[in-house]
Amino acid sequence: MYKKLLERLSAGDELTRDEYLYLIRHRDEARDEAAAMARALCEEYYGRSVFIRGLIEFTNICRNNCFYCGIRAGNEKCERYRLTPEEIITCADNGYSLGFRTFVLQGGEDPYFTDGVLCGVVRELKRRHPDAAVTLSVGERSRESYAALREAGADRYLLRHETSNRRHYEKLHPASMSFDNRQRCIDDLKELGYQVGVGFMVGSPYQTEEDLAGEMIYLRDVKPDMVGIGPFVPHHDTPFGAFDAGSAEMTTFLLSLIRLTLPDVLLPATTALGTVDPAGREKGILAGANVLMPNLSPAGVRGKYLLYDNKICTGDEAAACIECLKARIKKTGREIVTARGDRAERRI
Ligand code: 5AD
Ligand code: FES
Repeated sequence: MYKKLLERLSAGDELTRDEYLYLIRHRDEARDEAAAMARALCEEYYGRSVFIRGLIEFTNICRNNCFYCGIRAGNEKCERYRLTPEEIITCADNGYSLGFRTFVLQGGEDPYFTDGVLCGVVRELKRRHPDAAVTLSVGERSRESYAALREAGADRYLLRHETSNRRHYEKLHPASMSFDNRQRCIDDLKELGYQVGVGFMVGSPYQTEEDLAGEMIYLRDVKPDMVGIGPFVPHHDTPFGAFDAGSAEMTTFLLSLIRLTLPDVLLPATTALGTVDPAGREKGILAGANVLMPNLSPAGVRGKYLLYDNKICTGDEAAACIECLKARIKKTGREIVTARGDRAERRI
């Protein structure tokens, strides 16, 4: 039965939520075939290339209070920092010399970074490196703000939807945050012409297998350019500190299902996956992922951007990480490339 479902998915057929649920429940039997099919489909669009994105975690100051996140406003033990616009640009220059052609500016929802400040950074990055893509990941903002940032030159935006189930969303977030506003942001970003990334945590508190099947339907309907998923990992100073982490096994299986559902999607093997399993990122690539997002932040602040416990690579220099990743990826038979890595428009 699972073979038939995988074949149908691979041939471009739409599955129902119950059919996805069946696959998720039979993941132990289905995983090897799903991964092989996902890899083959990925190669049809992207060849053997794995794209790298230079992640600049430029502020851990955040006005929000998501129950899962280590940099939530309510975490008084979190040591806060904010890079200056000049420091952000220096970080990107360094990344450019290392071969990065995409910079991801990620941060908490920090009021210091008004449209004026952030647009200035984006404009300067695009002026210095016109052949590089700029991705923003700075949370929920107004449509006007997204429009101004796009106008300044931002190409892509990552805003994980976190869960497509309204009741589940309300269990992960305080009442001050709204499911509808999150969806409004994603709609605005799409309409403004960003390449948009959504995503969710695997094994977050209260998530069921039915919810995960629902995520596959959501992704199929929204058709994002990128999908970021990683296991939930508890952070000891948050309300969810005592919950179990999500598993690498479930995450890699879902990566395969996402690749089979959206063949040309850009799909990272995330740091959280590398955190719950030392070979997690390699396993993610072998399951159908084709993007890695190593850290470019200055060594002095890396250990402070802790969304969850035991995060990897917090002590390493960017240059060391990239060498490490090249060696790891080579062993999987794939190759890290220097390219912007836009979403493929057709098969190669
Ligand atoms: N474990 C795993 N991922 C997390 N994120 C936030 N907190 C955690 C955690 N404890 C993810 C969220 C967010 C992204 C930047 O990091 O999905 O959107
Ligand atoms: Fe950072 Fe291996 S990727 S040390």
